[in-house]
Amino acid sequence: MTETFDRLSIIVTGTCLSAAGLLLAGCDASQAGVVERITPQDRGRYLVERVGMCADCHSPRGPGGVFDQDRWLHGAPLGFAATVPMPAWADYAPALAGLNNYTDEQAIALLTEGKTIHGQPLRPPMPPYRFNREDAEAVVAYLRSLK
Ligand code: HEC
Repeated sequence: MTETFDRLSIIVTGTCLSAAGLLLAGCDASQAGVVERITPQDRGRYLVERVGMCADCHSPRGPGGVFDQDRWLHGAPLGFAATVPMPAWADYAPALAGLNNYTDEQAIALLTEGKTIHGQPLRPPMPPYRFNREDAEAVVAYLRSLK
């Protein structure tokens, strides 16, 4: 278990109970050097950038395939196609920055149930994520923070 994960689990639960591995540090606030404040937005960024790898599809790339940081998560055409026939393949991953077309509840439903605003399943290759509600809220908080 990495140190980063330990820190996250402490903050997310807000208790010392889940931090069995850190009992050494006790639950003393004076040990605050160990416990950093991680906001939902920070956690959302971690889930988007390190777990869901959303940028792989949703972020445009510049020369050499390097992400264009000025257009982070601004939507992109997919640089690959299905190798077998797919009835409903989407070849463009829309912009996520700002999440302008979604209310919070619509975006949370999409991330927890894998369904669009209209109740249809998302087309591949968008993964039908099943985030829990807390994680979905964190992803939404992070995406809303992007311009
Ligand atoms: C493998 C490529 C891929 C990855 C990885 C991916 N997406 Fe997508 N995403 C798509 C595609 C393609 C669509 C369009 C699907 C459709 O039109 O039905 C889409 C659609 C969406 C939509 C709906 C956007 C709209 O305007 O309709 C949201 C929201 C979304 N993705 C969020 C995410 C998030 C958050 C992550 C990471 C946790 C992620 N996606 C990871 C490919 C991907």
